[in-house]
Amino acid sequence: MKDRIVLAYSGGLDTSVAIGWIADATGAEVVAVAVDVGQGGENMETVRQRALGCGAVEAYVADARDEFADEYCMPTLKANGLYQGHYPLVSAISRPVIVKHLVKAAREFGATTVAHGCTGKGNDQVRFEVGIQTLGPDLKCIAPVRDLALTRDKAIAYAEEKHLPIVTTKKNPYSIDQNVWGRAVETGYLEDIWNAPTKDIYDYTATPEFPPAPDEVTITFVQGVPTALDGVAMSPLQIIQDLNRRAGAQGVGRIDVVEDRLVGIKSREIYEAPGAMALITAHKHLEDITIEREHARFKAGVDRRWSELVYDGQWFSPLKRALDVFIDDSQKYVSGDIRMVLHGGTAVVNGRRSDTSLYDFNLATYDTGDTFDQSNAKGFIDIWGMSSKVASTRDQRVAGE
Ligand code: ARG
Repeated sequence: MKDRIVLAYSGGLDTSVAIGWIADATGAEVVAVAVDVGQGGENMETVRQRALGCGAVEAYVADARDEFADEYCMPTLKANGLYQGHYPLVSAISRPVIVKHLVKAAREFGATTVAHGCTGKGNDQVRFEVGIQTLGPDLKCIAPVRDLALTRDKAIAYAEEKHLPIVTTKKNPYSIDQNVWGRAVETGYLEDIWNAPTKDIYDYTATPEFPPAPDEVTITFVQGVPTALDGVAMSPLQIIQDLNRRAGAQGVGRIDVVEDRLVGIKSREIYEAPGAMALITAHKHLEDITIEREHARFKAGVDRRWSELVYDGQWFSPLKRALDVFIDDSQKYVSGDIRMVLHGGTAVVNGRRSDTSLYDFNLATYDTGDTFDQSNAKGFIDIWGMSSKVASTRDQRVAGE
């Protein structure tokens, strides 16, 4: 029997050509696996048929939309996951779920090797291969674009020569990756970091300059996870989709950054993540009233480290798992409602309520009903400032000697 290779198939030119390219280079049979993480666009059955038309011996579509929302987007929300404070980890969190399905398919279809279409300059190759090594240590990995010299020009020539059922166009300046959590656009004209993104780059968001009337939304959370919009119960997937539509219409969640890739390159990225950014903002505000001060300060550091690990392809690592336990525990009281206004590119919180809130009106108020004993403040400040005061006295003495 011929060796089998499972290919992570997107339906695009590169991975369509990779089917025949891999078969020619290795003599193996190629099984195409497409994972639906809510990327939208084409019908997945069309994608599956294309893989067969391009020479795959088997083609399989995994509908991972709910799994992705529940097990990848929700942990990211609990961690307020923003790499370098900006990027909501759109591609970084989709790779591990794709890997899970690739490894599963490799077992089911008797493959020894897994292939992906990443280049040698990005983070995604790392995320795929570290994931595959972790979940399937016996599996080999190949990357035709990187290891079998499949360039874009060669891909176009190959597709035309073999009459592959795919549209080949030389003019596709951007590298785009998208799923329900957001959309990433890079390369081309954007590589000059002084160039402003043009309108055609955006797809999930309308231009925020001319927004429709403000849209007020109430998001209900239970233990860090959104469970309803405006009182209507929905799944995490439905909530993300609905907020993508509503926040997207207001131009919320456009991000333009230069970020540090794991391979040491700084790269310009345009992201749009309307639902994710609205949810992260709301979640953070709910944490502000439900998590105790020291716990919250510490969690901010954990959140940052969690985001770096996930960005760096360490989704399945022991440290990431341990931080998940901390983060899950921190969400015990993060339940309640956040009201926010989506308008003109912003998602602004204007109300919050929670049965497990730590906000104490009687402690905070300056009006009658104040239960805070202000006479304690003076002694507290004297002791709180003591060590600095002692040090300062020493500094002045030494300076005067
Ligand atoms: N720079 C982002 C990341 O590493 C986005 C990558 C998007 N991938 C792509 N093939 N366009 O997560």
